[in-house]
Amino acid sequence: MKTFKLLYIDAAQQAQIEDLQALIEHYKLPLKLDAELLEGKLNQKRRLRLTDEYAQPVLLLDNKKLDDKGQLSLLTERLSVALEWDKLQRRVVSAGRKSELLLQAAKLTADSVVIDATAGFGHDSLILASSGAQVTMLEQQPLMALLLLAEQQRMSRQPNWQKLMSRLHIINIDALSYFTDEKNITNNSVKVIYLDPMFPADSYQDSKTGKGAKVGKHMQALHQLAKPPSLPEEQQLLKSAQAVISQNDTKMGRVVIKRPQQAPFFAQQPPSESWSNEALRFDGYFI
Ligand SMILES: C[S@@+](CC[C@H](N)C(=O)[O-])C[C@H]1O[C@@H](n2cnc3c(N)ncnc32)[C@H](O)[C@@H]1O
Repeated sequence: MKTFKLLYIDAAQQAQIEDLQALIEHYKLPLKLDAELLEGKLNQKRRLRLTDEYAQPVLLLDNKKLDDKGQLSLLTERLSVALEWDKLQRRVVSAGRKSELLLQAAKLTADSVVIDATAGFGHDSLILASSGAQVTMLEQQPLMALLLLAEQQRMSRQPNWQKLMSRLHIINIDALSYFTDEKNITNNSVKVIYLDPMFPADSYQDSKTGKGAKVGKHMQALHQLAKPPSLPEEQQLLKSAQAVISQNDTKMGRVVIKRPQQAPFFAQQPPSESWSNEALRFDGYFI
């Protein structure tokens, strides 16, 4: 069980810390929070310097008020990121959805059941759920799972987000364990499995040359917590995801994988079809 620092800036944030502890307990997340009140002013410079003081990611509850409470951020390697699902508002309404490549690749209907097997910050899950589908979100990292659960709890308090939030089901588990558990395979109704594994560290966009994928700081921040899969891991993941779909009630569906535009095929397997823009590619494996 790993312990992570939770820095906060105001004694009044105790209630929020208790909410986080309650989520950890309820979902049996294998992590402990060591809460510490930060004295003094917290400007952007100090925020980022904080990441140098700790060898691992740190959570920060600060006063960037969204809804009367502190905002929860992940601080790591001189980056500070928050989930901020509200910022996806424009992409989850019907006009915005039309241009989403992920939705074109996943081809969901309102009654679809989909697994986002690499949930991360949950942004792609929101896009998937915006189609009306039920989304099971798998996240192997307990700390990321906690951030997801806390954001779902926060957003569920906003009336116009409640329906979407109720379609998200967050589970802290490794995707491979989930796919190979007999009870998740037999008689399932999963039509789409989506994978967005970590990209190799050198595939991020170089700000000077403009080369690499435009994936931004959210993904860079994850590099301290998650690694790209090896080729054997890719092969296992793809094979087991395909096996889950092939045993659903219709024996039909697809696995969709996000890649940097120029990246080689996942698991060296050519897809049935691809959807791409100048930065990203979604490869679809039809069953
Ligand atoms: C590139 S990020 C995904 C970002 C996500 N699509 C989003 O929109 O925020 C990859 C995430 O998947 C998680 N992950 C990687 N391999 C996994 C696995 N085998 N099972 C579950 N989660 C995994 C990592 O911990 C990381 O949080």
